[in-house]
Amino acid sequence: MFRIGDVEIKNRVVLAPMAGVCNSAFRLTVKEFGAGLVCAEMVSDKGIVYNNEKTLNMLYIDEREKPISLQIFGGEKETLVKAAKFVDKNTNADIIDINMGCPVPKITNCDAGAKWLLDPNKIYDVVAAIVDVVEKPVTVKMRIGWDEQHIYAVENAQAVERAGGKAVAVHGRTRVQMYEGKADWNIIKQVKEAVNIPVIGNGDVKTPQDAKRMLEETGVDGVMIGRAALGNPWMIYRTVRYLETGELIPEPTPREKIDVCLLHLDRLIALKGEYIAVKEMRKHAAWYLKGIRGAAKIRNAINECETRDELAALLLQVAEEAEAQAAANAEAV
Ligand SMILES: Cc1cc2nc3c(=O)[nH]c(=O)nc-3n(C[C@H](O)[C@H](O)[C@H](O)COP(=O)(O)O)c2cc1C
Repeated sequence: MFRIGDVEIKNRVVLAPMAGVCNSAFRLTVKEFGAGLVCAEMVSDKGIVYNNEKTLNMLYIDEREKPISLQIFGGEKETLVKAAKFVDKNTNADIIDINMGCPVPKITNCDAGAKWLLDPNKIYDVVAAIVDVVEKPVTVKMRIGWDEQHIYAVENAQAVERAGGKAVAVHGRTRVQMYEGKADWNIIKQVKEAVNIPVIGNGDVKTPQDAKRMLEETGVDGVMIGRAALGNPWMIYRTVRYLETGELIPEPTPREKIDVCLLHLDRLIALKGEYIAVKEMRKHAAWYLKGIRGAAKIRNAINECETRDELAALLLQVAEEAEAQAAANAEAV
């Protein structure tokens, strides 16, 4: 258990913010698998300030997701402050997070995301200005630096702390690395040693054992899991259990995986309507099906599905075939 400001996080496992993934439908599903904290996908400060309807829809939170951190991104102090104020007053998020890690040129070219990492003074300035006008705790998610020559993770985290930020999450890669190479946990450890606010470590936690190793090697307060949770929300449950009891519970059966996938699909339909949800769910379905025998052959068909019933029928077919195969294997033994 740890605290971010006055928000109690009941265990040390955090779902990473992921654009195009971490909407209410996925977050709630992950929450039900026991995440201590879930993070929402990044939302544009300008979209909020200019009342863009699509952006405002992204601020929807189901009470059952709480505690939840809502992340905003932007490259200018003025609009970030305005957007933070809006999130503070008009959403039921518990925490306001500032994105200082996004490596995509479209974002960094506007001085947003990882571009902040080049100047601890600017970080201090913007975080202090936001902290000043909101009541919810403010946090920053950052990468360790821009490139090998500009790794200011410690200075940047200290700037967040001095400015009144209540936690930092550190992804152990530079902006230039994008998602390549290995996350540098040693720098995450240096950050943890340099600040008194909670530090959440992130990058390359692929198994419950990785989570334990990160906690032990870096001393961080929490571990943030991103890609390993895609189509795999039970990764969170397995990690929570492993950290608490040392027990490594088995992966779910194909049928259980498909059941969770269908629950996720129905929640996405409730959130966005069938047409958009089914399209968005195609990529998730491919992730849920990873490792299930016989799934590869329906991948193309999934990408052509347009309705809930078509998609559900394909998924259930895979589950049934996998079950029949497992029964045949058991009989043969
Ligand atoms: C599809 C995808 C979308 C992402 N979107 C965001 C985002 O909106 N905000 C953010 O701070 N990080 C974002 N990230 C980065 C993750 O939060 C995380 O830092 C990164 O994936 C490393 O953690 P992992 O090794 O556990 O995946 C995204 C990553 C992925 C794969």
